[in-house]
Amino acid sequence: MKETSRIKLVPVNESDAEFIFEMMQDKDYQKYYLERLIPKNLNETKNGIKKSVKEMKNKFSYYFIIKKGKTRIGIVEVYKIMQKDKRCSIGYGIKKEYWGKGYGTLACKLGVNFIKTKLKLHSIEAVTEPNNIASCKVLEKNGFEKIGIIKDYYLNKGKYVNRTLYWKII
Ligand SMILES: CC(C)(COP(=O)(O)OP(=O)(O)OC[C@H]1O[C@@H](n2cnc3c(N)ncnc32)[C@H](O)[C@@H]1OP(=O)(O)O)[C@@H](O)C(=O)NCCC(=O)NCCS
Repeated sequence: MKETSRIKLVPVNESDAEFIFEMMQDKDYQKYYLERLIPKNLNETKNGIKKSVKEMKNKFSYYFIIKKGKTRIGIVEVYKIMQKDKRCSIGYGIKKEYWGKGYGTLACKLGVNFIKTKLKLHSIEAVTEPNNIASCKVLEKNGFEKIGIIKDYYLNKGKYVNRTLYWKII
């Protein structure tokens, strides 16, 4: 059995705070990440989780922990859910010690499957920092089409930054 074959997506809860905080403190993990997505301390992480739990209850967005047995591997987010257009966005992150083993690709696949079977949406948007090769590959291996570069997509640390836009019709 492949190493990645037994991962699953579990809705986040407060007990996941230490894991998320620790995963996001890694400088390599932060390299292509927006500053606003990196919690400054454990308390901020817990508050973020509380907000995510509320949003899940209201079906506004979903935040999952990727688990292999009881071990936490990373996160998958489904957000910007637009029921009128049957569209959403997807994001993901894997703790550095598990990089390069196929977990990112498989977690994205599980996220796409959730969007298709549970949310029954039609299309998915994903944006990635143009130099984030691993993330681009995760999307391409999941059948996302590269649309192009959007200039000044985010304002990060006082500077506008570009993103590559990917698109998938489910
Ligand atoms: C992007 C990320 C999720 C990829 O996770 P992963 O588990 O390493 O992904 P996979 O193992 O499925 O690898 C996907 C592909 O990327 C390649 N890859 C992995 N790490 C790489 C790196 N640092 N540089 C270049 N390619 C890399 C793999 O070799 C694989 O390609 P292949 O199938 O052609 O060999 C992970 O690097 C991460 O969490 N980064 C920090 C958070 C982040 O940037 N999230 C994305 C925001 S858009």
